[in-house]
Amino acid sequence: MKVLIAFVALLSAACGPSVPSDPKLAGKAYFTQAGCASCHRVGGEGSAVGPDLTLVGFRHSEEWLNRFIKDPQAWKKDTLMPNKRMSDEAVRAISSYLAEQKGQAWTAGKPWDSAKAEEKGRVIYARAGCVGCHGVGGAGGYPNNNVKGGLIPRLNAAWETYTKPELVAKIKKGVPMSEKADPKGESPLIRMPTWSEKLSDDEIGAVADYLMTLRPGKGESSDSSF
Ligand code: HEC
Ligand code: HEC
Repeated sequence: MKVLIAFVALLSAACGPSVPSDPKLAGKAYFTQAGCASCHRVGGEGSAVGPDLTLVGFRHSEEWLNRFIKDPQAWKKDTLMPNKRMSDEAVRAISSYLAEQKGQAWTAGKPWDSAKAEEKGRVIYARAGCVGCHGVGGAGGYPNNNVKGGLIPRLNAAWETYTKPELVAKIKKGVPMSEKADPKGESPLIRMPTWSEKLSDDEIGAVADYLMTLRPGKGESSDSSF
């Protein structure tokens, strides 16, 4: 028995720092251990290789987070997000930690508070996470399950279809889910959030102004996109 205990202790030491048993704390520990912060920010910590995750629990459901993190390429074939081949338990813990990220980690104000007026809309688009669903420069190409065409709409031609006040209304209230592609199939896991819960009228105006400037091919390779 003693040998077994010693062996288990050795094994867990070899697997890195131990993970707390409280599921909420465990999620954060797994997030750190798996190196997620080398590409993602939560609050003031982390890097900008991938989308900022400070509001990720506002824009995505826990169910989708779980499915995406488990196997990102199964959701979006060409995604740059790596498959870390974690246990189901680790993925579930990380997803429940991320599902709680609703902006509270920005303790010293929002990242766009200090942006110049003409930059504000672009910074909100990136850091509030529009980019995670509509793509860099509004180029689209992001999947949703069981929707017609299989994709979340691109936004780089929104100026052709909508006036600024129409865009403002859609961003504020969110967009009700269009019809399912297969009426008997599962509900789409991605929804357009109701941004008035997180952004002020001024901030929504700034991001709508930014959308009006988007054109296909413009700004899509910008390296400060996230
Ligand atoms: C090598 C960099 C890299 C690492 C490491 C990484 N990611 Fe990502 N992640 C990305 C990129 C890039 C995207 C954007 C994917 C796209 O646009 O297709 C992304 C997207 C995401 C998204 C979707 C964000 C959104 O707003 O839609 C989540 C959630 C996520 N990553 C979680 C994680 C977690 C959890 C880990 C650690 C297990 C992790 N990532 C590790 C690069 C990374
Ligand atoms: C979690 C994913 C997600 C995020 C984040 C997101 N959207 Fe959306 N958005 C959607 C989906 C899905 C639709 C389409 C809904 C439908 O028609 O079924 C949509 C639709 C839209 C539309 C209407 C497009 C059209 O052609 O009718 C606009 C405008 C829009 N989003 C702007 C934004 C802005 C601005 C942000 C950031 C403040 C944002 N979205 C963040 C998922 C998202």
